[in-house]
Amino acid sequence: MNRDQQLREMAEKEVQQYQSIVEKDPYRQNYHMMPPVGLLNDPNGFIQWKGTYHMYFQWMPFDTTHGAKFWGHYSSEDLVNWELEPVALAPSDWYDKNGCYSGSAVDDDGLLKVFYTGNVKDEQGNRETYQCLAESVNGIDFTKKGPLIHLPEGFTPHFRDPKVWKEAGKWFMVVGAQTLDLEGSVALFESEDLENWVYKGELSSSNGELGYMWECPDLFPLGGQHVLVFCPQGMEADGMYYNNVYQSGYVVGDFDPKQATFNHDSFVELDRGFEFYAPQTTEDEHERRLLVGWMGIPDQNEEHHPTIEYRWIHNLTLPRELKLQDGKVYQMPVEELKNLRREEVSSFKLEKGYVEKEIPKSSEIVVDIDSSKKSMVSVDLYDFAKITYNRAERSVTLHRKSLVDGSIEERSCTLENPLKELRLFLDQSTLELFVNGGEEVFTSRMFPDVTKENVRFDVQGDTHLEVKAWELG
Ligand code: FRU
Repeated sequence: MNRDQQLREMAEKEVQQYQSIVEKDPYRQNYHMMPPVGLLNDPNGFIQWKGTYHMYFQWMPFDTTHGAKFWGHYSSEDLVNWELEPVALAPSDWYDKNGCYSGSAVDDDGLLKVFYTGNVKDEQGNRETYQCLAESVNGIDFTKKGPLIHLPEGFTPHFRDPKVWKEAGKWFMVVGAQTLDLEGSVALFESEDLENWVYKGELSSSNGELGYMWECPDLFPLGGQHVLVFCPQGMEADGMYYNNVYQSGYVVGDFDPKQATFNHDSFVELDRGFEFYAPQTTEDEHERRLLVGWMGIPDQNEEHHPTIEYRWIHNLTLPRELKLQDGKVYQMPVEELKNLRREEVSSFKLEKGYVEKEIPKSSEIVVDIDSSKKSMVSVDLYDFAKITYNRAERSVTLHRKSLVDGSIEERSCTLENPLKELRLFLDQSTLELFVNGGEEVFTSRMFPDVTKENVRFDVQGDTHLEVKAWELG
């Protein structure tokens, strides 16, 4: 048996051995993509190909910590029901032996091509990095073609996460990078044939302000402009901003494919919650720009997740549709998610005081808000997390019990317009909160007491709420 088969068999065995333990976890999600066992991180190779959506993901089958990653694989016909497929890539070759790291997928004349980073470390921990190609005729079985790009001059081996796209008749690739001056950066490559790549220079870089390393870049057209999404590491917290260990955000600008230049505005965070990182986008056959992120952050309290006891950790976010409005990226859950709605479990109006309702853990709650000056609104979820809105400050805050010591921690943002709508997607241990039609999003894990189903809505001042909730399944 060769190394590749060996690793695949080991991963399969791990799944068989621990599946029953994993499934006993009350915090296991009902409708989010999760690892069958072990650790999941970044979404990879997101594509709708020959009608089917494919979502590959960074997967460590043997542990709930990071390590030599595989590419796991889910597929879906409708973005709602996802089926686990066999391992797509295993870290079996000299050029990816310490991990088939993150990357992306494109269609090349009916062939699915994925680009990923081959991560190699020696005994002293020194890194090598190779941008590699693998091909597939069915989206399930891949043939590795090996490294196409070696590290260009001017960068440290923290050089990874190729995202490939076609524009103006040419192929482009952005790679997350660190310069020799230890600045975060994005390297740009160009190709005629997806095999021979020419290095075109740095597309954008930290300039002393945006950290020492940028991971998972993604450049795409949206609303007549271009958006570059990336994940800077090493930014300092600044009031309401940059409070997670690492950030995930974007800049908006104009990419010139002929000159290979990109002029852009300043950095904006994509998400206001506690756990969101490494998002990846794709354009589907309906010409929608879709985004899925990882609901976790590297090095951020991963050892405190209670699911570790059940031998799994992390999940992906729901698929979201992106729109650019007045230079800002809006994110909304895709329309198809309405198909998850089961029974309506609550429907009421509230003008004064509070009400407490029983709402199951897997549910969608829509709160329409008509608020006057000086009002306050709050939604308390299972005595674990609480969303508050302060009209005078136009601020929305998510409070939750810290995973480390149970103390209350907060993330906040201010809105451009008064609050009109909160749309919550809750799963067994997640919250995705869409504010005002996607103007802001808070993505977070939650680990409330499993017996609790109480959600409390409070208003103060002259405010009307209209609430509807559905069980999701
Ligand atoms: C981001 C990241 C990527 C890397 C992958 C490894 O979370 O660190 O930069 O390719 O995860 O799993």
